Amino acid sequence: MRIAILTGAGISAESGIRTFRASDGLWEEHRIEDVATPEGFQRDPVLVHRFYNMRRADAARAQPNAAHQALARLARHHQVTLITQNVDDLHERGGSHDVIHMHGSLLGALCASCGHRWPAPLTMRWLDACPHCGDATTRPDIVWFGEMPYHMETIWHAVETAEIFAAIGTSGQVYPAAGLAQHARRSGARTVELNLAGSAVSRDFDEHRIGAATQTVPAWVTELGA
Ligand code: APR
Repeated sequence: MRIAILTGAGISAESGIRTFRASDGLWEEHRIEDVATPEGFQRDPVLVHRFYNMRRADAARAQPNAAHQALARLARHHQVTLITQNVDDLHERGGSHDVIHMHGSLLGALCASCGHRWPAPLTMRWLDACPHCGDATTRPDIVWFGEMPYHMETIWHAVETAEIFAAIGTSGQVYPAAGLAQHARRSGARTVELNLAGSAVSRDFDEHRIGAATQTVPAWVTELGA
């Protein structure tokens, strides 16, 4: 079966990585305009580097959980396209391959001057100059607000051809990710939402499985014969 899956911060919550919009979420402590926009980076790159060093340290300490591992198992039995809004590498460390990081990755660096991209191990210091142009304008290869998400052609195709579309651990507040379920349903997919609570787009789903991802995702994957 062709299954397209979108994950959000909620799938990594039980691995100890903070989500964004919970009461103790990242956006309660940091202003998006300061740490997640090109203008914020222009204004104060050191503040941005400090924010992403903290997130990289959290990601390095975290371990994949049963939900990440269940999705890797699912892909061994069905044609799965795994799309994530997350910038950690827990899907990969949980056994998934070809993960589509539509909001980029903490393990990638980007030069704000020449656009050069290179792999950035979690230990890398952001102030290293760009290996291509030499400018000291290295930023995380993360899609910030106001920037275009990556791999949208591939994502639209996967969503339009899926028989099942599932969203796991996302509040449905950020587009285009939040619009994928409606697009999948219009293309004929059955849509299922696996989340701790409802989301801003719950109306776009045929089925809802409320609970913690480490409980709901393995059960759902088992029901799909994986
Ligand atoms: N199991 C399942 N779902 C959970 C769990 C859990 N253990 N813990 C939290 N959730 C759910 C919350 O109920 C919420 O709906 O995960 C969702 C997390 O929502 P957000 O914090 O808004 O994260 P996300 O939807 O991934 O944010 C999307 O916004 O800030 C930008 O680029 C950033 O990719 C991010 C995007």
